[in-house]
Amino acid sequence: MGKVIYVSKNVGLGLLVLAAIALATIIALSVAYDNEKAKKRGGNTEDGATGSTSIPITTPSTPKEPWDHYRLPASLVPISYGVNLWPRLKPDANGLYIFTGDSSVVFRCVKETDLIIIHSNKLNLTSFDGHHAKLRALGEASAPSILRSWLVVKTEFLVLQLSRRLSVGATYVLFTQFQGELADDLEGFYRSEYTDDGVKKVVATSQMQATFARKTFPCFDEPAMKASFNVTITHERGFVALSNGVETGSTDAIINGVPVRVTTFEPTERMSTYLLAFIVCDFVDVDSNLNNRLLIRIWARRKAIHDHQGDYALNVTGPILQFYEQYYNTSYPLSKSDQIALPDFNAGAMENWGLVTYRETALLYDRVMSSTGNKERITTVISHELAHMWFGNLVTLQWWNDLWLNEGFASYVEYLGADYAEPTWNIKDHIVLYDVHKVFAVDALASSHPLSRREDEVNTPAQISEMFNTISYSKGAAVLRMLSEFLTEPVFARGLSSYLNTFAFSNTVYTDLWDHLQQAVENTPSVHIPHTVHDIMNRWTLQMGFPVVTIDTRTGSVTQQHFLVDPDSVVERPSEFSYTWFVPIKWMKTGVEQQQYWLLQKTDTHDMMRVSGEDWVLANTNVSGYFRVNYDLDNWDRLLSLLNTNHQALSIINRAQIIDDAFNLARAKIINTTLALRTTKYLSNERDYIPWESALKNLNYYILMFDRTEVYGSLQSYFKQQIQPLFEYFKTITANWTKVPTGHTDQYNEINAIGMACSLGVKGCRELIQSWFGEWMENPHLNPIHPNLKSTVYCHAIALGGVEEWDFAWKMFKNATLASEASRLRAAMACAKAPWLLNRYLEYTLDPTKIRKQDATSTIQGIAGNVVGMPLAWNFVRARWSYLFHTYGRGSFSFSNLISGVTRRFSTEFELQELMKFKEDNLHVGFGSATLALEQAIEKTTANIKWLTENKAPVMKWFTEESTRQ
Ligand SMILES: *[C@@H]1O[C@H](CO)[C@@H](O)[C@H](O)[C@H]1NC(C)=O
Ligand SMILES: *[C@@H]1O[C@H](CO)[C@@H](O)[C@H](O)[C@H]1NC(C)=O
Ligand SMILES: *[C@@H]1O[C@H](CO)[C@@H](O)[C@H](O)[C@H]1NC(C)=O
Ligand SMILES: *[C@@H]1O[C@H](CO)[C@@H](O)[C@H](O)[C@H]1NC(C)=O
Ligand SMILES: [Zn+2]
Repeated sequence: MGKVIYVSKNVGLGLLVLAAIALATIIALSVAYDNEKAKKRGGNTEDGATGSTSIPITTPSTPKEPWDHYRLPASLVPISYGVNLWPRLKPDANGLYIFTGDSSVVFRCVKETDLIIIHSNKLNLTSFDGHHAKLRALGEASAPSILRSWLVVKTEFLVLQLSRRLSVGATYVLFTQFQGELADDLEGFYRSEYTDDGVKKVVATSQMQATFARKTFPCFDEPAMKASFNVTITHERGFVALSNGVETGSTDAIINGVPVRVTTFEPTERMSTYLLAFIVCDFVDVDSNLNNRLLIRIWARRKAIHDHQGDYALNVTGPILQFYEQYYNTSYPLSKSDQIALPDFNAGAMENWGLVTYRETALLYDRVMSSTGNKERITTVISHELAHMWFGNLVTLQWWNDLWLNEGFASYVEYLGADYAEPTWNIKDHIVLYDVHKVFAVDALASSHPLSRREDEVNTPAQISEMFNTISYSKGAAVLRMLSEFLTEPVFARGLSSYLNTFAFSNTVYTDLWDHLQQAVENTPSVHIPHTVHDIMNRWTLQMGFPVVTIDTRTGSVTQQHFLVDPDSVVERPSEFSYTWFVPIKWMKTGVEQQQYWLLQKTDTHDMMRVSGEDWVLANTNVSGYFRVNYDLDNWDRLLSLLNTNHQALSIINRAQIIDDAFNLARAKIINTTLALRTTKYLSNERDYIPWESALKNLNYYILMFDRTEVYGSLQSYFKQQIQPLFEYFKTITANWTKVPTGHTDQYNEINAIGMACSLGVKGCRELIQSWFGEWMENPHLNPIHPNLKSTVYCHAIALGGVEEWDFAWKMFKNATLASEASRLRAAMACAKAPWLLNRYLEYTLDPTKIRKQDATSTIQGIAGNVVGMPLAWNFVRARWSYLFHTYGRGSFSFSNLISGVTRRFSTEFELQELMKFKEDNLHVGFGSATLALEQAIEKTTANIKWLTENKAPVMKWFTEESTRQ
């Protein structure tokens, strides 16, 4: 599936920083990136912790009856379906939106059985002679009669008890007729609404992954139950019907006195139910023809298409498809490629085969209103979804336990496809920030879990949806990238192509890919690996976490150790590999790339890594491996002095890596905190985005811990002196802020520069922001602020302003017609400094006419991210717990973020006591989906108290010395 919308780590950071006003800069970026990088479900975590929630290992108890199991029995396999659907876009007499339909499924019996068990959920089935379905045989044999039929709500099955057994090898047809609700629940066949010139419009659309096809029609709803689908859709005349295949015909009819049109689609290829899509809408499209063989269409609301918002997506789709055809060495498997932007959509996008669905912000690009971040998001999301057209759709994993391979793969190659479409962006580097560093944070917890799970550990729909987490997406991407790097890209691509060709239209387990990659290695004499692909990768997929590799350049000793960010945490999960890995280490000595070295045990010696004098060693070049690196102090000193004298001797990614590794090694008490802080000294000479972004993300923790203490003053003056040159640099290259920087990432770093400079009080910054915002207030119809800078400018202007600025923002928020504009304003209003404004805003979250329910918890979190708002939000949450719990507490992801968001600064004994008391006082109410977050909040507060005790004095001393030394 695509990527998510739940508040992501980036958003979390964004809002926090935003409100902290220390670094409000990142925001714009964060907001720009929020959705694109927020991966399905797991992306909801702001600090990663809840993303690592492990699925408890269930003891497979044996239920008595086959229909009590969540998995289908292996007795019947579908061959093809005929599915006819008729969604009503107007409510019936009871105000209910419904759809009706029928389905015939042709299936073969492969194991004798007198039961038919097929998925069906929330459908009202028509009764035929008192049964839920009709059965007939194809061919000579006659079908048994149905004795009894019933629905099992818990396991979402329709069960038919037959009079005698079905014969092995025989085929049958099961016919059902049904009525379902076209609800606005974003699941299965559902309803999305929007307004067009004040007129309410209704769209019928679908989201089947993972287990919602069964809510649309009775089906064998498991990914390995591939079949071909003959679809027709009945709809109002004047509307468009879309599905996976090309429309083959459209006829007018009158059904029950209603004039309708019936659209028929070509039969699909053999495919999984979770990839089906059905849409009826009044949208229009822009299209093109790739090499006269492939129809490419981008669909959206009429107005969006007329405003050319689909043009950019259309422009990049062709090149991206061509890239994958060449990379996979397999042509695009279908006869058309539709992509559609929907006003309501839960995930970021969904890779339905031939009809990909997106939320509007992930597909539509507006030349005037969209930021560079919006554009990058569109490119990478399209690239991600199109990667699935082969990997995932043509060849599909057998079961959801291997989801990480599907999503990890798409999350890796999305950068390759996007790079092909936008070669000037250097987008391949971004995987280090947005996937590798992001998932390091989650995977360094003792509560993390391995990528791969046993099939029998994943059964229920809830367990399936838990698979869509940061570990699956980002760690999957990181280890596959590492694999591709050590095999070399041509070998990786050859193995991949052979895998896709062998298993086209069928299903696999992850080891099938390892086998084909191994073949490719064996056919390439120039590539040597120390163990099989299988054995190397087992270490990375079957045990959680990753190593920190320590290189002692005085002796050449190289060791590895399981990296845990909290050294006092206890790892309870055993590993058959004792937490050691086969680590491919790309490295350089004094600027010269060396031959890759494999660390195959816990400790080793590599004489080449012994250096002296001025020589230095840098390992994990381009962060191509999934591990952190530590060195002896002398080598650290040499690397730091290189940064200070000639930072460009190291690649951009490795500059970012040194900072991120050092800060995390310090958190884990492996190195001294002052060593981590020293990695920021060279930043006054740094102009590139990736190292700055890495530093700001790490600095964020310091801000949270210190912005209420006396350390903050010296922290501010130190970073003010570091950021000033960057601010001046952008002022120059933008000709005094009148131009947009040409470089793609320069545009991001300009946002960092302005945001940081304003937070820290660099001369000229606040005046600049206030003048832009003032101009807009003067003339609300003409916003002079560049879209890239809006989030940052809004936040700072509101923080510096008073009630007038706030009320203006509120008015603009209420009038906003573009979703991303509304969300920028909503975030910025949490930046206010006046407690009464913040309290009033908190109250607004209780009134759905002011703040929509879906935005309430993230608004409270935003306010908590503001150092002034934090205690207000905490009081608010405590006072309103019962209301919040009853309104949002059941299964909402943002709900658990509420607790982690509000308590993120907690670092005193007093706060810990308050937190414990809160837990005690509300035991009778409960904590719902925030239960784990509450436990983690207590654990983290304890850890923060400890960290502060140990680090406050030395950090204060360091900042003070560094900021007075000029
Ligand atoms: C679907 O269409 C194909 C080709 O026209 C046909 O062979 C098959 O029987 C159809 N399946 C159903 C269930 O209608
Ligand atoms: C299904 O049947 C139930 C019980 O009769 C009814 O309440 C519900 O509205 C029906 N749903 C639809 C979509 O017709
Ligand atoms: C799409 O491509 C056309 C033709 O190259 C170009 O003129 C247009 O500016 C592009 N549109 C966007 C939004 O990039
Ligand atoms: C960290 O380094 C500083 C400066 O080099 C030193 O004063 C301090 O004692 C060190 N702290 C620890 C815990 O080693
Ligand atoms: Zn995906």
